[in-house]
Amino acid sequence: MFKTVEWKGSAVVMIDQRLLPGEEVYRRYTGYKEVAGAIKEMVVRGAPAIGVAAAMGVALGASKIKAKDYQTFRKEFDKVADLLASTRPTAVNLFWAIERMKKVAAENRALPIPELKERLIKEAKEIHRDDIEINRTIGKHGGRLLKDRSTVLTHCNAGALATAGYGTALGVIRGAIEAGKKIKVFADETRPFLQGSRLTAWELKKDKIDVTLITDNMAGYMMKKGLIDAVVVGADRIAANGDVANKIGTYSVAVLAREHKIPFYVAAPLSTIDLKIGHGDEIPIEERDTSEVTHVKGNRIAPRGIKVRNPAFDVTPNSLVTGIITERGVVRRPYSKGLKGLFRKG
Ligand code: MRU
Repeated sequence: MFKTVEWKGSAVVMIDQRLLPGEEVYRRYTGYKEVAGAIKEMVVRGAPAIGVAAAMGVALGASKIKAKDYQTFRKEFDKVADLLASTRPTAVNLFWAIERMKKVAAENRALPIPELKERLIKEAKEIHRDDIEINRTIGKHGGRLLKDRSTVLTHCNAGALATAGYGTALGVIRGAIEAGKKIKVFADETRPFLQGSRLTAWELKKDKIDVTLITDNMAGYMMKKGLIDAVVVGADRIAANGDVANKIGTYSVAVLAREHKIPFYVAAPLSTIDLKIGHGDEIPIEERDTSEVTHVKGNRIAPRGIKVRNPAFDVTPNSLVTGIITERGVVRRPYSKGLKGLFRKG
């Protein structure tokens, strides 16, 4: 089985997702600036995975700080954290993981610096380990929502490649299959970065899960034909009112699902829920390089000088969401109350 991101010795190792499905290449990073570059350049992507990578980047950066006292250490540490936080704006897991690392630094300020560095590495490893556990629990809760012999449509990649392992949306599919259900999957290609065709199709096929690839504009046709029973997607940030930011095109799928009376589920850990943001409109949406739209594998597919937009995410209003599947159970409308309640539990 492949490893999305891993702490190995004193380095962070990641599978280079830009090269999949053609090549399985692992990159080894020994500096936090390189880890930040890898997040920005999409070597690693997917909300929980970039959170884990950022935490490991912080630990890596901290381990190289030469300071002897906490104050000087903290100054350098904040520079490391700030750079990692500047890599991608939409997925809140990135900021959540960095904040968790900052908290550990502050709480352990009395430790000798070498021990503090060890403590930070331990925390990053814990974030990694917890994420896999959380996804398995999401898979158990979500798996119950899928009927035996059903076909699920997913968009983008919310799988093992987007997390420390197992996946959120794909975790739900894996959970249902592990519970003995027969599940088929339709994977949207997910233009322009092709996370669906390059990554979801790759990891499901590797797992011998029945997957059929379609281009994004085929989803409506498949739904109208009665070939889709449920939609399950991941999320990059969920606002306090249940609005969901996820990969561009998710909103269109949700609108189609409503028209065809198909349940539309979002699977995400609590670290994706941002109670500080009241409404989806306040979620920062990353706008990526236009070459992702005008070029495919270096080949131009649009006229030179054409005006291009490339928002990487969109927001699905809570009214289109049937349920949000978390590690603490499934939340349904009214989301404001339900999402808040999750943080009070256990
Ligand atoms: O731009 P990406 O590939 O990082 O976007 C990923 C997504 O939109 C995923 O659906 C989301 O992060 C959930 S991953 C469990």
